[in-house]
Amino acid sequence: MKLIITGGAGFIGSNFIYYELKQHPEDEFICLDKLTYAGNLSSLKDAMQQPNFKFVKGDIADRDFVYSLFEGEKPDVVVNFAAESHVDRSILEPELFLKTNVIGTGVLMDACRKYGIKRYHQVSTDEVYGDLPLDRPDLFFTETTPLHTSSPYSASKASADLLVLAYHRTYGLPVTISRCSNNYGPYHFPEKLIPLMIINALHDKALPVYGDGANVRDWLYVEDHCSAIDLIIRHGRDGEVYNVGGHNEKSNLVVVKIILKALGKSEDLITFVKDRPGHDRRYAIDQTKIHNELGWLPQTKFEDGIAKTIEWYLDNKDWWQEIISGEYQNYYKKMYGNKF
Ligand code: NAD
Ligand code: DAU
Repeated sequence: MKLIITGGAGFIGSNFIYYELKQHPEDEFICLDKLTYAGNLSSLKDAMQQPNFKFVKGDIADRDFVYSLFEGEKPDVVVNFAAESHVDRSILEPELFLKTNVIGTGVLMDACRKYGIKRYHQVSTDEVYGDLPLDRPDLFFTETTPLHTSSPYSASKASADLLVLAYHRTYGLPVTISRCSNNYGPYHFPEKLIPLMIINALHDKALPVYGDGANVRDWLYVEDHCSAIDLIIRHGRDGEVYNVGGHNEKSNLVVVKIILKALGKSEDLITFVKDRPGHDRRYAIDQTKIHNELGWLPQTKFEDGIAKTIEWYLDNKDWWQEIISGEYQNYYKKMYGNKF
């Protein structure tokens, strides 16, 4: 089987490529990535050594380019990770999110129709459901929870999901969608909560916690997300949405304190800053459907996953130092000012 994996130079995509190369050495993999600020070829260094892996630089919203790639490669499956993925950046600059996340998804699906692809998989997010109140721990997102978005990022991801389901109903395109909770693990870009807090703590810099730090996320080790997508693309039913989550809810403040403790740093580094506009309070996934249909369950406990993640950041300083010393500094100053 030949798979095109878009956005494979990003956090989850690169982890997915390594997972697939290990689990399915008989398959062929092509990574299509625009190499935006979030795409990093060094994350794919080891994959590049494999004869059944190829990297192609390009934009999923560039129709001519995408069609010629599909014409030449004739893939069986497309897994779309490519996206602008950071909520804060979507608040600063929404338009790019529409171009990549909505138009790009449409272009990929048109190519899938034209070249008769057997499965198009859309990697989506629990953020399409909006948020849940903190005082209702009994509530969870199911696949039938109405879409109700908060940020330009989540609105663009929900629009893409609706387009994917429309292509299934109207054109019979064989699609699946996974909606996953917050991932963490190796190759996570330093702008996101967990790597940002690890890196700042290592430099004894202030840790900027938005609002009161009580917002809750359902953290899933990235490899567990990869195993869920692998099952869905190979055994999931056409036209279906699958929630993927960890049943591992933690407030931001708790996560930050766990990181500080693991690194032997003081909680005095925690600094409460202005809240994110429209900040979602709580995400929580009900993963009954994927468990019942495909037998999937997360394998990594948070205490093990966070320890492995911290170790990875300690062992791979070159990877993140290269990122934070470049253009990232301008974004960081714009977001957090000179204080941090
Ligand atoms: P990321 O920002 O780390 O990586 C995105 C990748 O897409 C980068 O390599 C970037 O270069 C590439 N890209 C961006 N625009 C492109 C374009 N126009 N054409 C081709 N490539 C392009 O993102 P991530 O955290 O790995 O997320 C991957 C996917 O998973 C996204 O669709 C995101 O919405 C979804 N998701 C993420 C999480 C999470 O916790 N990170 C959870 C659920 C779902
Ligand atoms: O739920 C899935 C989503 O998880 C994905 O769809 C997104 O692509 C991914 O970026 C992530 O979104 P979040 O907004 O939840 O992740 P982020 O790491 O940006 O923030 C996690 C929480 O931490 C959130 O409540 C905001 C807070 N935060 C974040 C940063 C960067 C802080 O308090 N301080 C910070 O500096």
